[in-house]
This record gives sequence, structure tokens and C-alpha cells, in this order.
Amino acid sequence: MNVLVLHGPNLNLLGEREPGVYGSATLAELNAMLEARAAELGVTLKVFQSNHEGALIDRIHEERHWANALLINPGAYTHYSYAIRDAIAAVRLRAIEVHLSDIHNREPFRRISVIADVCEAQVSGKGTGSYLEALEHLVSGG
Ligand code: DQA
Repeated sequence: MNVLVLHGPNLNLLGEREPGVYGSATLAELNAMLEARAAELGVTLKVFQSNHEGALIDRIHEERHWANALLINPGAYTHYSYAIRDAIAAVRLRAIEVHLSDIHNREPFRRISVIADVCEAQVSGKGTGSYLEALEHLVSGG
């Protein structure tokens, strides 16, 4: 199984960015955890982070034939990027939405996800564990 992992804006600063909200693990540490779990599960990952909406969309398009599934933390784009939502719908990949923090118990604007309806599940509020749970969900077929 091939899984495209996309991290959206500001996630490159994990570890130093609001650690009380997002935890102390860096993006490199998070990616290493994901790679280790993927290896145990027999999954191949391609991992990409960008602060740019179009770059995330380009990657979804580019990997649409390679990937069997998409694991995405769109960051703040979650709440307003119809373009990312449409890209996921266009490629018709299985997708799962991930958040480190609990978006349902923060500011009201974070409770809205325009991505959720094109994803088969949302995992939120479990820190780096959200990503691991999402990967396991994809492998188990949901
Ligand atoms: C986030 C939650 C978003 O609201 C926020 O804009 C992020 C990170 C999370 O992982 O908790 O950048 O997606």
C-alpha cells in the first residue's frame, strides 16, 4: 500500500510552534514515527510539507496514480480551502484528515472542516498519535 502524507502550513515549525497546543515533537520526529509504523505495517510513504496551497494540490495531482490513499493535515487550510477539498474529490483517493490538536474544542472557526466530506474519517486531538491512528485506519480498510 502506498500512502501520500501531506502536512500543511506551519507544520514545519512543529516542536517550537505553540508546544502547549501541538506538542514538542518536531516534524522530522513525527515523520520518523510514521515511517517506523509504516514499515511495520508494510506501507510505503511519500511525505511532503508545504506552506502553499497550490503546492499541496500539485502534489495530490502528481501522486494520484502512485498513491492508494492520502493522509492529510491541511493545517489552517482545513477551515477554508475549497481548492484542496476539490483536489481530493477530483483524484478520488481514499483520504483521512488528521489534526494534532482537538479542533472541536478550540476557537469556533476551527470546528468547521471543508475537507471532512471528502475524507472517510477525521482523527483529531491525539497529538502525533492522530497520525498513527489514521495510518492504522487506512491499512485496516477503515
Ligand atoms: C491543525 C489545526 C488547525 O486548526 C491549525 O490551523 C493547524 C494545525 C492541527 O494539527 O491541530 O495548523 O491542523
